[in-house]
Amino acid sequence: FQDFGVQNEPILGYREGSTERKELAEELRRTAAVTEEVPIVIGDEFIKDGEVQHQVMPHDHGKKLAKFYYASEKTIQKAIQVSVSAQKKWDRTPLEERVRIWEKAADMMAGAHRQRLNAATMLGQSKSVVQAEIDSAAELIDFFRFNVFFLKENAKYQPISENPTITRNSMRFRGIDGFIAAISPFNFTAIGGNLAYTPALMGNGVVWKPSDTALLSNWRIFNIMREAGLPAGVVNFVPADGPTFGRTITSSSDLAGINFTGSVPTFNWLWNEVGKNLNRYKNYPRLIGECGGKNYHFVHPSADTRSVVTATIRSAFEYCGQKCSACSRMYIPRSLYEPIKQGLLEERSKLKVGNPNDFSIFTGAVIDNKAFDRITGYIKGAKNNAKNKILGGGEYDNSKGYFVQPTIIETVDPHDKLMTEEIFGPVLTIYVYEDRDVMKALSLVGSSTKFALTGAVFANDKGFQQTALEELKTTAGNFYINDKSTGSVVGQQPFGGGRMSGTNDKAGGPNYVMRWTSPQSIKETF
Ligand code: ALA
Repeated sequence: FQDFGVQNEPILGYREGSTERKELAEELRRTAAVTEEVPIVIGDEFIKDGEVQHQVMPHDHGKKLAKFYYASEKTIQKAIQVSVSAQKKWDRTPLEERVRIWEKAADMMAGAHRQRLNAATMLGQSKSVVQAEIDSAAELIDFFRFNVFFLKENAKYQPISENPTITRNSMRFRGIDGFIAAISPFNFTAIGGNLAYTPALMGNGVVWKPSDTALLSNWRIFNIMREAGLPAGVVNFVPADGPTFGRTITSSSDLAGINFTGSVPTFNWLWNEVGKNLNRYKNYPRLIGECGGKNYHFVHPSADTRSVVTATIRSAFEYCGQKCSACSRMYIPRSLYEPIKQGLLEERSKLKVGNPNDFSIFTGAVIDNKAFDRITGYIKGAKNNAKNKILGGGEYDNSKGYFVQPTIIETVDPHDKLMTEEIFGPVLTIYVYEDRDVMKALSLVGSSTKFALTGAVFANDKGFQQTALEELKTTAGNFYINDKSTGSVVGQQPFGGGRMSGTNDKAGGPNYVMRWTSPQSIKETF
């Protein structure tokens, strides 16, 4: 797509003495100095009412970053009404005008607001500077610019056919009558931006429930969009308790769609609620979800061990393994096990875990106490199971922040829960297979979990690469050959998976915008 004039946002280096580093340090100081009060915003009304909540810093949980309010059922209903009525006018706003707002917002994110977004992401979601920069700067900006580009590309092919004296056939991209509920996760600030604002770009009204643990960064996106000129009421900012929000949106006759990223049980529950309420709705609601993963690195005997080690350390442990794409299970042939194991342990021991204010850390803390308990539960379980051996890491401490050290476990059971369940933390489990059983090992990849988000195969043998492409076809929506399972780039590797990993609507791809329109075919006869 780059040939057509849309470019991925360059990633800044934050070297010692650089301007961006100085600006970011200043923003980090400013952001940490206060507990920002974040309202619920419905139309042009700022509401500071409801059950009080706080967003704390995961690496220093005594520090409150933001104070916010849970919207009650009544408040959510109000947000729905406002969004439905704003949509009618918004959908009549010419495409060029809408696009201008998105382009202006992307420039603001890339310029003056970049470090405010990064600071909120680093402190609120405990990301290192690099991880914040690729998320709340690069990926967020890319979503805004590429979605505009994809929309314009789709619009280019109108009218479909034309004979000036007889007929013209065209399609117009209407927003969907009703409202879209956007429910976004903590792990990428950019996903919040994409989930809430792509439906809006396409002429929809949105009720956005940001994640409690990404509140400040999401609030900053919301403000940029207001400043860029998005009319009040098109996107409404509605933090809420999950079940209350879910019940309220699914029982509204105006529900036109749900744009969701989060856990499988929550998405399943929402889907069931929609099913139960189907007779109420004016339209079949669009259900778009990205859920869990149990992403793999499969190593073939022909692989280059150094690149396996580097890729795996990055995929499994960057952002504490909390990317939906993170590698958490690995298959290694006996012949390569020693060099890979030694390499992983050596690199692991160098990883610095700490406070993102320190620019030299590799990763911060895990997001909250619930995550800490879940992840350490798996580690404790591994310590008490003779089939599993902790090779490195395994330590944790939540006295000041929710810190879990990157942990590498070896198992002799390819069906152990460490190899099959989503842990969503810095835990990598290795299963060693005999070289002669490579095809048997390959078949375990797909048969041992119900997920299919990302996966990677490391092999220099071209024939095996083809075999893996075929044999693992249904095991990953994003498949990598000789590269890590994380780090998809908007417009280059559209992201999403099948099976229980989601509806695979490919965020950052050309079709995503089209999922948020209800197109109308028009035949004009002259
Ligand atoms: N873009 C993110 C990744 O692939 C989700 O890691």
